[in-house]
Amino acid sequence: MTEHQHDIGMIGLAVMGRNLVLNMADHGFGVAAYNRTEAVTREFVAQLEPGQEVGPCYSLEEFVGRLKKPRRAMIMVKAGKPVDAVIAELENLLEPGDIVIDGGNSYFRDTERREQSLGTKGIHFLGVGISGGEFGARTGPSMMPGGPREAYPAVQPIFEAIAARAEGDPCVAYLGPGAAGHYVKMVHNGIEYGLMQLIAESYALLKQALGLSNDQLAEVYAEWDGAELSSYLVEITADIFRHRDELTDGRLIDFIRGEAEQLGTGMWTSQSAMDLQVPAPNIDIAVAMRNLSALGEQRRTAAELLASAEGAEYAAGAGVGGQAGGGQAGGGAQAGAARPETLSLAVEDVRGALYAAVIMTYAQGFAHLQAASSSMGLDLRLHDVAGVWRGGCIIRSALLRDIRAAFERQPELPNLLLDPHLSREVARRRPHLEQVIHAGATAGVPLPGLSNALAYLDAYRVPWLPSNLIQAQRDYFGAHKYRRIDRDGIFHTEWPSGDDRR
Ligand code: 6PG
Repeated sequence: MTEHQHDIGMIGLAVMGRNLVLNMADHGFGVAAYNRTEAVTREFVAQLEPGQEVGPCYSLEEFVGRLKKPRRAMIMVKAGKPVDAVIAELENLLEPGDIVIDGGNSYFRDTERREQSLGTKGIHFLGVGISGGEFGARTGPSMMPGGPREAYPAVQPIFEAIAARAEGDPCVAYLGPGAAGHYVKMVHNGIEYGLMQLIAESYALLKQALGLSNDQLAEVYAEWDGAELSSYLVEITADIFRHRDELTDGRLIDFIRGEAEQLGTGMWTSQSAMDLQVPAPNIDIAVAMRNLSALGEQRRTAAELLASAEGAEYAAGAGVGGQAGGGQAGGGAQAGAARPETLSLAVEDVRGALYAAVIMTYAQGFAHLQAASSSMGLDLRLHDVAGVWRGGCIIRSALLRDIRAAFERQPELPNLLLDPHLSREVARRRPHLEQVIHAGATAGVPLPGLSNALAYLDAYRVPWLPSNLIQAQRDYFGAHKYRRIDRDGIFHTEWPSGDDRR
């Protein structure tokens, strides 16, 4: 092979990196491939099919030497220090005008720092969020590039070729300067956490309160996937309930410990929303519930100690204790047996409540992005973000078409609940939310995501909130001042104190 012949290079040949390489090669791009461990590179190229133009490289010098100029070097290594380690070696080999692309789930503050530091050498740094997992990387991911705009045209044809397509459009668009791409990917993951928590709660209701078997659950989610709830996460949920266990004759789902893990992107979303003072309770609670679920030992103790209340007894009887212990599978029939006589709940209530809460979770994520766009200078067009998320990514859904249309109508919309169509969809389903939350409380099925969604809706839409009392208390104990409803200005009151109080 001669020098300077590859269109792009990939550093990091773990599953995401190698699948992106194969995807690029399938679309006719020549790709230089490098992994720190030589054996990984050798093993990867040994599996290539004839016609796939992939050049194995065994040093970064060789890798850089094989790239066409301006060089496009993509990094797919573990987020954090490994990215810095690669950049530290690579930057000395590159020239002004070259482009470094980080396709991992990097923290946006790291991306800002890296862009600035490489920028001082004239090297462009693009932070690109990539969603869709291994399969998406191979067949078409959703891509969220951000960074210096002038660098984007050099990667655009490659990204547009390898990205997923939705309604004929590639699921990739230049999103904004600095860390815009990684910021959008972070919020994507926050929404992902929120949606997964809601779907998990719908499962708990269908299984524990309505007693559906795994086959029935699979049917219900498959049916839901065919209409307004159509989405990747609902689709895979149906598949999961059908999946047989290889080690027993049961279904795998019943043998998986209910202790959720995380890599941290949901937590970053919550933290960043707090920094911007954007309410995102469905994302916050999803992170908190993963943390709570992981307290397996404490939950087992609590299940015994607190089981005296009627509701808790029901929940424990429905297999929650068994799941926490990890040794006993909670089957559908077992869950159904404990259904209280007084419960009033239909599958359609769960469906309606889920859809309303899903809309509100996207609403919180997009409100977060709208706020970040203006206050952090990310310069996002939420219409494009919704467009990029329509295909390839984990949160792709039919609803994103409506969301995109909402931002087409009003690009600066601060909250999707202010869109007439979406607010109508939510309002129509409020009775379902009320019904499921009531049923959950009766049956002892915890529904923090669905409850938060209803509280968010009601808090957002009611003209009066009791926050006047909070303001009065702040002024009382800290002279923090307050505003009045009947006149302009800022007021402080000398509240009674000490003996005056009595
Ligand atoms: C995606 C996913 C992907 C990954 C998550 C998992 O968009 O393809 O979000 O990035 O699966 O990081 O995150 P947790 O381990 O935190 O659940």
